[in-house]
Amino acid sequence: MEYHMKDKVVIVTGGTTGIGREAALLFAKAGAKVVVAGRREIEGNETVAQVRQAGGVCLFVKTDVSQSSEVEALVEQTVRKFGRLDMAFNNAGIEGNWVPIVDQTEADWDRTIDINLKGVWLCLKYEIRQMLSQGHGGAIVNRSSICGHVGSATAATYCASKHGVMALTKSAALEYARNGVRINDVCPGAVQTPMGDRLFGEPDVEKRIRAMHPMGRFAMPQEIAEAVVWMCSERASFMTGQSIVLDGGFLAGPNPPD
Ligand SMILES: NC(=O)c1ccc[n+]([C@@H]2O[C@H](COP(=O)([O-])OP(=O)(O)OC[C@H]3O[C@@H](n4cnc5c(N)ncnc54)[C@H](O)[C@@H]3O)[C@@H](O)[C@H]2O)c1
Repeated sequence: MEYHMKDKVVIVTGGTTGIGREAALLFAKAGAKVVVAGRREIEGNETVAQVRQAGGVCLFVKTDVSQSSEVEALVEQTVRKFGRLDMAFNNAGIEGNWVPIVDQTEADWDRTIDINLKGVWLCLKYEIRQMLSQGHGGAIVNRSSICGHVGSATAATYCASKHGVMALTKSAALEYARNGVRINDVCPGAVQTPMGDRLFGEPDVEKRIRAMHPMGRFAMPQEIAEAVVWMCSERASFMTGQSIVLDGGFLAGPNPPD
């Protein structure tokens, strides 16, 4: 699909690896100037190099999305460098510690919620403020998960954070629909990324998780990034407050046995 994002500027958080890196590349191929935000400088600069190699324009801004001052500075640096902000993919997240609730620690709850939920809230706050000041609307995609739709034993904190992202998406979309700022989220099943490897890399776990996806495989990061770029594009111009689920059939119903 051809996009016309020339002169558009996008922020991709967690663009140092995985789905964020793929999205940065696709936005750049669509013509957008890309600001990659993340905590890890080496991986961030690798994404910048890959985008430049593909002919794109890219800047890395070291950012911890759970810190208000750093998210505010991310938007400021974006505007200082490229003059505007049109789109954002609020993708940064962690899995936290997947153990039963009675074994979960308060510190892990705080860290997971701070990054996955407060981080998205902070991004929305400063991104939307900038978009409103420009007066031309904008498009934002937040990163949720199938864990935003259903619970998962041992992943209560992660699921709570991803359900929260969907609530933020709908509420923000309602607040800014009349200003032309569209806000949606994307909810993948298991994706082949560093996080996917950490969570599902053990052969028996991988086999079980594959079997829970009727298509019998994990998503590739590009399959998620494609949807994100489309949601941010003019082609999705009447879509706001919605989720796209990309899960190989996971949420469609019980997977028939082989
Ligand atoms: N991989 C999966 O199976 C899967 C499924 C559904 C949803 N998700 C979600 O997708 C998003 C991206 O994950 P991924 O699979 O690409 O894994 P990943 O671990 O490769 O990417 C996550 C990125 O977020 C960054 N990040 C983490 N904490 C941050 C912080 N405080 N500030 C800035 N950046 C931070 C990491 O450095 C990394 O670059 C996450 O929100 C995750 O919850 C992943």
